[in-house]
Amino acid sequence: MDLRVEFAGLVLKNPIITASGTFGFGLEFMNFGDLKRLGGIVVKGLSLKPREGNPMPRIVETPCGMLNAIGIQNPGVEAFVRDKLPLLPWRETAIIANLYACSAQEFGDLTGVLAGEEGVAALEVNVSCPNVREGGAAFGQDPSQIRKVTEEVKKRAAGKPVIVKLSPNVTDIGLCARAAQDGGADAVSLINTLLGMAVDIRTRKPRLANVVGGLSGPAIKPVALRCVHQACKAISIPVIGIGGITSTEDALEFILVGASAVEVGTANFLRPDQSFRIVDDLPRVMIKAKCKEIAELRGTLSL
Ligand SMILES: Cc1cc2nc3c(=O)[nH]c(=O)nc-3n(C[C@H](O)[C@H](O)[C@H](O)COP(=O)(O)O)c2cc1C
Repeated sequence: MDLRVEFAGLVLKNPIITASGTFGFGLEFMNFGDLKRLGGIVVKGLSLKPREGNPMPRIVETPCGMLNAIGIQNPGVEAFVRDKLPLLPWRETAIIANLYACSAQEFGDLTGVLAGEEGVAALEVNVSCPNVREGGAAFGQDPSQIRKVTEEVKKRAAGKPVIVKLSPNVTDIGLCARAAQDGGADAVSLINTLLGMAVDIRTRKPRLANVVGGLSGPAIKPVALRCVHQACKAISIPVIGIGGITSTEDALEFILVGASAVEVGTANFLRPDQSFRIVDDLPRVMIKAKCKEIAELRGTLSL
């Protein structure tokens, strides 16, 4: 059975990628499975300088999901390149860097640091983080900004595939996907978290210190599927599906809608070996669907 997928200049051994911020730098999960079995790993969001993130509490459980306002805590791009990347199995599994910045110029500079790194297979550009006060949301909600950031990253990427990660917190996701395509993106990934809030009625306080945060997990899967469906209709570049994927069947739903690969996020919090289990379970679901190749299934939704 051929589980390989090829898109945007990437060849992945299977379509299962772990989502940024839910799988650390991969290294933290080495005791739960062989990282080489994954199609890809998107590492935690990276910024030019180290970031401490938001005050706690910054994760709360909600019905069928969770809210987070981590605020892109990370050791900075240089520490990633020096301390983490060499330890990852980048020859066997695609390591995708996730970029976070507050201006197009900063996105460009971040790209410049990563573009020359052999171990980085692709760049995923986070234009949608709703947690950080100083601007992240603005890029993802303005098609002209999405295009500008994409152009800047593409210019400095030295040929590495550029994946633009879109926010669902917009009225017309197709417009945002088109802006990324027009800016030269090789692929888009969606969705990032949905902006949400939870209240503690006993203390009468918001449950997140940041007041609002990003909702993820099974609760958002229908929204994610709708967004992926609309993006696939709006653009011709490949789409990576993200949002509430917990099982192999969930992954298949996104592939049928048109996704070339999927990212598994919050499910990794529920079971740290869940992404590995989905990889192992793929052949069973393919046999059931009477398919020998993933590509046979992609975009075959019957409307
Ligand atoms: C705790 C946490 C941290 C996250 N950090 C990032 C991040 O650094 N960069 C990013 O692009 N997305 C980040 N995300 C968003 C996820 O990658 C994913 O897009 C989102 O959670 C939806 O997928 P899921 O429902 O499978 O979790 C984070 C999500 C969670 C739950």
